[in-house]
Amino acid sequence: MNTSEYELEYFKSKGFTRKKCSKCGRYYWTLGSWETCGEPPCEEYTFIGNSPMNKSLTLHEMRETYLRFFEKHGHTRINRYPIVARWRDDVFFTQASIYDFQPWVIEGVVDPPANPLVISQTCVRFNDIDNVGKTGRHFTFFEMLAHHAFNKRNKEIYFKDRTVELCQEFFTSCLGVSPEKMRYIEEWWEGGGNSGPCLEVILDGVELATLVFMMYKDEPDGRKPLSMTVVDTGYGLERITWVSQGTSSAYEAVFGPVLQYLKEIAGISTDSRILEEYCKVAGMTNARTAADIKKIREMTAERIGISYGELIQCIRPLEDIYVICDHTRALAFMLNDGVVPSNVREGYFARLLVRRALRAMRDLGINIPLSEIVNKQIDFFSAVFTEMKENKEDILGLVDYEEEKYKETLARGRQLVSRITKSLGPGERISTEMLIELYDSHGLNPEIVQEFASLQVDIPDDFYIRVAARHEKPEVMREEDISTELPENLPETKLLYYEDPELLEFEATVIAKIDKGVILDRTAFYPEGGGQEWDTGTLNGMKVIRVLRKGNSVIHFLEGDFFQIGTKVKGIVDRKRRMQLMRHHTAAHLINGITRKLLGNHVWQAGAHKSEDFGRLDITHHQNLTREQISELEKEVNRIVLENLPVRIKMMSRAEAEKLYGFRLYQGGVVPGAIIRVVEVEGLDAEACGGLHCKNTGQVGLVRISKTKRIQDGVVRIEYSVGMSAVENVIRDKEIVWMLSEKLRTTPEQLISISDKILEDLKETKRAYENLRIAYNNNILSRLLENAAIIDNMKIVAYRVREFEDPVEISKALATRESVLSVIVSAEKNPRILVSCGENVGIDCRLILKEITAMAGGAGGGKKDFAQAGGLQEEMVDEVLRNVPEIVKRLMSGCA
Ligand code: ALA
Repeated sequence: MNTSEYELEYFKSKGFTRKKCSKCGRYYWTLGSWETCGEPPCEEYTFIGNSPMNKSLTLHEMRETYLRFFEKHGHTRINRYPIVARWRDDVFFTQASIYDFQPWVIEGVVDPPANPLVISQTCVRFNDIDNVGKTGRHFTFFEMLAHHAFNKRNKEIYFKDRTVELCQEFFTSCLGVSPEKMRYIEEWWEGGGNSGPCLEVILDGVELATLVFMMYKDEPDGRKPLSMTVVDTGYGLERITWVSQGTSSAYEAVFGPVLQYLKEIAGISTDSRILEEYCKVAGMTNARTAADIKKIREMTAERIGISYGELIQCIRPLEDIYVICDHTRALAFMLNDGVVPSNVREGYFARLLVRRALRAMRDLGINIPLSEIVNKQIDFFSAVFTEMKENKEDILGLVDYEEEKYKETLARGRQLVSRITKSLGPGERISTEMLIELYDSHGLNPEIVQEFASLQVDIPDDFYIRVAARHEKPEVMREEDISTELPENLPETKLLYYEDPELLEFEATVIAKIDKGVILDRTAFYPEGGGQEWDTGTLNGMKVIRVLRKGNSVIHFLEGDFFQIGTKVKGIVDRKRRMQLMRHHTAAHLINGITRKLLGNHVWQAGAHKSEDFGRLDITHHQNLTREQISELEKEVNRIVLENLPVRIKMMSRAEAEKLYGFRLYQGGVVPGAIIRVVEVEGLDAEACGGLHCKNTGQVGLVRISKTKRIQDGVVRIEYSVGMSAVENVIRDKEIVWMLSEKLRTTPEQLISISDKILEDLKETKRAYENLRIAYNNNILSRLLENAAIIDNMKIVAYRVREFEDPVEISKALATRESVLSVIVSAEKNPRILVSCGENVGIDCRLILKEITAMAGGAGGGKKDFAQAGGLQEEMVDEVLRNVPEIVKRLMSGCA
C-alpha cells in the first residue's frame, strides 16, 4: 500500500494525526489521543449501554436520517436494486451497493442513474450464516447505506477529501459523535473485479463504514487503472442503528416488533447484563469455529461470574430467536425480489433459510406457520419498501408451500436416516460428506439427522457455510462454440433482419468460408440466438441448413458444395419458418407477462426455446399449473392476441431502459453494452431481447398451451404452439375426440358421461371376474387335492394347467396347504414347470426338479420349498406328470 494514498488534505487541514496501532501495527488517522486503531480485538465495544450518539434511532429512522443528510449535501436518492443481481452473470446476489454499478457504470459503458447519489441497498451474504444469531452482529440480510460519486476524466464530482469530510460530518454534526472519537484505518478493498485504497471507519470499538476509493480493475494479468475513479462507500445501517441505541446486540436494535413478538410467544425474558457482556466478548473474537464460540462463552461466563451451563441456558433460546428474525427478514426480501425456493441457484439459499428457520422454531417449540413471522417482517418493512405490499400474498404462499414440503421431507427423512445408521459398521459415524449429501439431496438439516439417528452425529460448526459455498457462483452459460477460428480483420456482417424484419430476399457477397459455411457481407438470415432457432432458406438455390453467429459474423452452413470468396449470391429466407419462429418468440413474451400477472411477481423466465413447430418457456414457479390455471393462461394469451396490441422494438440506453422498466428487462439473462434492444408489449411485458418478433400481437394467431410440467424444483415448463401449428394441434385434438366418440358410439358431448359409465361397468366386471376367479381356483384346488396320489400321508399333485389358468397362482395356493407337494406345468408349448411344497413335506423341491429336467430337458433352479424350470420338451410332459409319484417315492426312499 502506498502511504501517500491516505495523506489527505482534509486530514491535514483539520489537524488529524496519523498513528500506528500499538497492537496490530496498522496506521490510522484521528483527532483523538488513542493508542490503538480501535477495532476489535485491539479494543472492545464501549458503546453498549453508553451510546456515543446524541439520538437513539430505529432502523427506519436511521436510514432516513442518512439518506436525508446526503440529499442535503447534493446527492440524489435512488431506489435500491433487487437482491437478485440479474444484470450480472458472475454472482447470484447483490452483496454491496457497488455491485449495482459493476461492470457497466464503473467501466464507463453506461452513465450512473445520478451523480453523486445516495442509496440504501438491500444485500444478502451467506458466508457467515453459521455465526448469525451467535455473535450479536452477523446477518445474512443487511442494508448498505452508501453514497457514490463517479469521476470521469473530464468531470470530477469529488473524491477522497470530500468523502471523508462527509463521513466525519455525518457522524459528528448529524449524530452528535464527538470528533475525536472517529478513527480512520488505512486499508485496501477489493470486490466484484475492482479495487482501491480504503479507510475503515471505527467508532467505540466497531467498524461502521468503509470508504473505498475505487481506482483499479483487477484482471487475470494484473491490476489496471480504471478510466474513472469511483467513491464507493458502505455504511452498515444495522450497526449504526445499534450504536445509536447502545443495546446489548445489533439484533436487539434492529429486529423491532418481530423480535418482541417472538420473545412473547416463546415466553423468553432476557438478562441484558449477560447479553451485553457476551456481545462485547464476541465482538473481540473473529468467530470462525465452534471452538471460537465456545471460547467466547467461557470468557463471558467467567467475566460475569456464572457457570457455563447457566450462560448457555440464557443465550441458546435467544440465538434461535435471532436466527428466525434474520432468516425471515432475508426471505421476505428475497422472495419479494423474485427468488423461488428450490434446490438450485438462488432458490437454494431461500430454501436453506426456510429450513434453518423452521429448525430453530422446532427447538423453541414455536408452533405457528413460518409465514406468520414472514408476514410480520413484511408489515414492518413495507412501510418503507412499499412494493412488498403488492407481493405479500405471493410471498406468504411460497413460504407455506416450502414449509409443507419440509414436513414431507422430515417424514421421509426418518426412514432414510434409520436405514443409513443401520448400515454403519461398529464404531462408524455419519461422515460430514454424508451429512452434506443428506442436506443437499434430501433436504435434511444435520440437526434433524442427529435427532433421527440413534447415535452421536458430528456436525461441523461451519456446516451451512460449507453447503452455501458449494452453490455460491452461477455457472456461466456459453453460446454454442464454433471451434473453427474466423479469419482475421473480417468486416462485421450487416444484419438486414434488424433493419427490415420483413425483408426475405437479398443480394450479398461471400467474404469468407469456414467448414461448410459461408460468411456474407450482409444477411437477412437470423442466426440461432436468445432461444430462437435459425432461419433456413437458400443461397443461389443452395440449401441453408443452419445459421450461427460468432463475434460480429453470421455463418451460413450449407448443404453440399459451397461458394468461392467473392461470389455474388441471392439469399431467400424461408418465410413460413421465419413467421413461425417470430410467432413463437412473441408468444413467449406474452406467456411470460401473463403468468407473472396470474401467478405472482416471483415468476421469471428460467429458459426458453422457440422452434418452428412449438415453443417452450420455463418459468420460476414452485408448483405445476392446475388445469384451471392453464385454461386461464390460454384464454388470457388469446385475448391479448385478439387485442392486436403493438409489439414495439426500441434501441434504448441501458440506464433509461432500466429506469423505465426496472430489472425485469433481463428475463433472458444478462445483455452486454450501453444500448440495449427492448421489446415491449405495452402494459404487459418489456424485455431486453435480440430476437425477431411479430409487429403486433394479432400476428401471433391462435396460441395453444399443450402441456406444463415441473421440470425441476422451482421451475415449471410451459409448452405451447402458435399460428398454424396451434391450429393443426387443435384439429388433431378434435379428431381424437371424434374418433373416441365413434369408437364408443356416442357424441363428443356425451363422451364424458359415457366414459364414466364404461369405467364404472369395467370396475363392476373386474369385481365380478375376481369373485369368479377365486371360486374357480378353489374348485380346481379341491379337485386336484381329491385326485392327488398319496404317499406317506403326503398328497402329490401333478397337473398341467389350461390356457386360462395361472400356474404360479395354483402352485402357490397348493403350497399353503399342509403336506402337499405339487408339480404344475404351464399351458404353452415347451412349458415351464413349477415344483412347490407345503409345510411338513420333507422333500427338497430342487431334487424333484433335477430328476424332471434330467428326463425332459429344460433348466432352472430355486429353493427347497419352491423350484422352477423352463423349456421342457413338449413330448415328455405327459410322461413327466405320470411319473411324479414314482420320482417322489424314489427320492423318499433315497432320503430314508
Ligand atoms: N464496497 C465496500 C464494501 O462492500 C464499500 O464494504
